[in-house]
Amino acid sequence: MRPFASLADCPHCPLGKVYCHSPRMKGRGPLDHPDVVYVAEAPGNDEDQSGKPMVGMSGEFNDETMEKVGFDLSRVRFTNAVRCRPPHNGTPSWDAIKSCKPALIAEIEHCKPKVVIVAGGTALRAVGKGGTITDNRGRWFARGEQFYVPTWHPAALMRSKSPAMLREYVEDLNMAL
Ligand code: URA
Repeated sequence: MRPFASLADCPHCPLGKVYCHSPRMKGRGPLDHPDVVYVAEAPGNDEDQSGKPMVGMSGEFNDETMEKVGFDLSRVRFTNAVRCRPPHNGTPSWDAIKSCKPALIAEIEHCKPKVVIVAGGTALRAVGKGGTITDNRGRWFARGEQFYVPTWHPAALMRSKSPAMLREYVEDLNMAL
């Protein structure tokens, strides 16, 4: 099984027809036995330019927050449910999520982390969990050898500026630690 998306996944993906700088972006961090695989949504402009997930504003905010909670970031693999940048940073369609899903599942199976952090609704859909992120956050579930921890996407925390959401995010990260 291959832990990366390949061109063979793209024919039915709407993003395959749109130019982006870093198509089928790979993850950031160790591929072999990280403690955590962190699944976000899709690359933004900073990620597309650098070729690395979660390095823009929400990625920096998230790195700081995770470090404060006590994560060793060198033991975290960051990846996205969808690996090409959607135009105008729009929410990825189900066709895009479906096209990248085999690579995401293979990446998790290859990494064999203890925990998968599922950040936001797109990541939740990608791992095949029904319901909204509002319904699911704060409640871990087990699948195979992994614990999955659904939580808010850091960009939603930054947008909302809600202290309550940030508190919940920190609680969820503590659950994943
Ligand atoms: N950057 C990413 O790589 N993924 C997101 O979901 C948001 C920003």
